[in-house]
Amino acid sequence: MTVAGIRFPNPVGLAAGVDKDARAVAGFLGLGFGFVEVGTLTPKPQPGNPKPRIFRLPEDRGVVNRLGFNNGGIDAALARVAALPRPGIIGINVGANKDSVDRIADYGSAVAKAAPLADYVTINISSPNTPGLRDLQSQPELGQLIAASDAARHVGGKRVPLFLKVAPDLSREGLEVAIRAAIDGGIDALIVSNTTISRPATLRSANAQETGGLSGAPLASLALAKLIEAREIAAGAIPLISAGGIGSADEARRRLDAGASLVQLYSAMVYEGPGLARRIVAGL
Ligand code: FNR
Repeated sequence: MTVAGIRFPNPVGLAAGVDKDARAVAGFLGLGFGFVEVGTLTPKPQPGNPKPRIFRLPEDRGVVNRLGFNNGGIDAALARVAALPRPGIIGINVGANKDSVDRIADYGSAVAKAAPLADYVTINISSPNTPGLRDLQSQPELGQLIAASDAARHVGGKRVPLFLKVAPDLSREGLEVAIRAAIDGGIDALIVSNTTISRPATLRSANAQETGGLSGAPLASLALAKLIEAREIAAGAIPLISAGGIGSADEARRRLDAGASLVQLYSAMVYEGPGLARRIVAGL
């Protein structure tokens, strides 16, 4: 299928955060993923939050993380991507440093560096683990951020596709603002969604109340609901990529039927193992 002008061999992608530093891209493509999104990468290396910062919620098949964009910096990761023999579709997800005094400038510089090596670049403004980051989902910051990223994405005569990743905690009005800005600013696809700061009442695991973003099965219904809202709002004007609680071919099918052009997953692999992508692709 073709999305944003990119031909994807299958619709099941590895979500950002698994291979933050682009250390195993070929390996994940070899597991059957149709595309791999590396990152989030920030302009400068940073350690992230103190450990422990990832928690399993086994009874709920969920994960809570408060990593805080730990990564070795965009330059080191891009050197690894440049050395790869282009084994498949690679997205590069970028963010701002925690201590940055100009976060919008961080996105501009990261997009400019990533664009020459990426099949697409994702602007991640939806991590709950960098204080204030998600404020960039509102205007006027969002328009400025998209404009800076758009200016940075041109490589020679080529306009590298730009994706925007949003939080599932946006209200319908907040989602409307973000989607309007994305469409007006020339964003090529919307990823719905990142982890949630909400905690469904059904959670049973001891780690449920740890601070951070919740993902995996307990995020599925919210991610689907926000996908459906996004489809209603976007009305076909921008392709949608669904992430959040996808762990089976049935769940992937549900998202594609609800309007997603592609899906991404992370947390289910923790519980289902490395064969999951291939099983979902086969089941679709
Ligand atoms: C993530 N996610 C994430 N997203 C992102 O854009 N940049 C990142 O660096 C990370 N890091 C990260 C770490 C960990 C441990 C987890 C569990 C998740 C979010 C991820 O890409 C995805 O959007 C959500 O996890 C929802 O999908 P799943 O995990 O429910 O399939």
